[in-house]
Amino acid sequence: MRALEKLQEISKKLSPLNIENPAREAEILLHQGLNMDLVEMYRDNPEINNDQTVIIEDMIKRRAMHEPLQYITGHTDFMGLKISVGQGVLIPRPETELMAETAIQKCNSNRLNILDLCTGSGCLALALAKNFQESQVTGIDISETALVYAKKNAEANEIGNVEFMKGHLFDPLGQNSLFDLIISNPPYIRREEIKGLQPEVSKWEPLNALDGGEDGLDFYREIIPAAREYLKDNGTLMFEVGFDSADEVAGIFKDFGYHEIQITKDYSEIKRIVFAQWTR
Ligand SMILES: C[S@@+](CC[C@H](N)C(=O)[O-])C[C@H]1O[C@@H](n2cnc3c(N)ncnc32)[C@H](O)[C@@H]1O
Repeated sequence: MRALEKLQEISKKLSPLNIENPAREAEILLHQGLNMDLVEMYRDNPEINNDQTVIIEDMIKRRAMHEPLQYITGHTDFMGLKISVGQGVLIPRPETELMAETAIQKCNSNRLNILDLCTGSGCLALALAKNFQESQVTGIDISETALVYAKKNAEANEIGNVEFMKGHLFDPLGQNSLFDLIISNPPYIRREEIKGLQPEVSKWEPLNALDGGEDGLDFYREIIPAAREYLKDNGTLMFEVGFDSADEVAGIFKDFGYHEIQITKDYSEIKRIVFAQWTR
């Protein structure tokens, strides 16, 4: 069978699976399975050999079980970086790119000490380290698997001004660690809502990357007061938040004496990023 015929076949197989864009996913799976770029695939319409068929059929089988496309291809893009992902690490989302952009706009110096709490694949830490090359970035996560990906991503993207540490929130830091910017996309889904999410998320992505406690705010309640010890004078603490949590997170900032509290909306007009300053 030739590639373009196979493309139709894959698209048909994916269509009944409640996948948003089966034709696009078929293209991605096929060109990855054939190990050739998309333009080449359309131009040459190659005959698919037996070995390639086995690889492609395995990818389709995995996708039919609702395994996320990015776990199957093994990577995603984040702010122009190629980020490896797989089971055990959260797939970076477009709204998180917006947080990286907001942080980049807000910082007016290149020599910063930056902390990314709950770093996962390291996407935020790496995007900031790449943009601020004279800065030092630290990423912390509790998951060993996530950190394996984060370190691999730093290496693959040749980013040296970043280090990753394992542990609960601020625990791995030494005394007197002070940061200009602390950024975090913590787990923020309400526990009860996780099982109602699409299977790609609820069945495949790590629970400890999603579960924000009963009301989704556990991490904000812990990080906001604790961060005061780790922020420089007028340092910034910035969060991504759940679709309806921005005002509550802003309230927690206020309760703990932060100022210049700001909320930024994402491309869907959802209040998505909340940040504030701490004065010593
Ligand atoms: C929503 S994911 C964010 C990952 C990544 N920063 C991103 O934006 O794609 C949350 C991350 O928090 C980590 N995490 C969960 N509990 C933690 C804890 N107590 N301390 C540090 N990291 C934790 C998870 O392992 C997961 O990687």
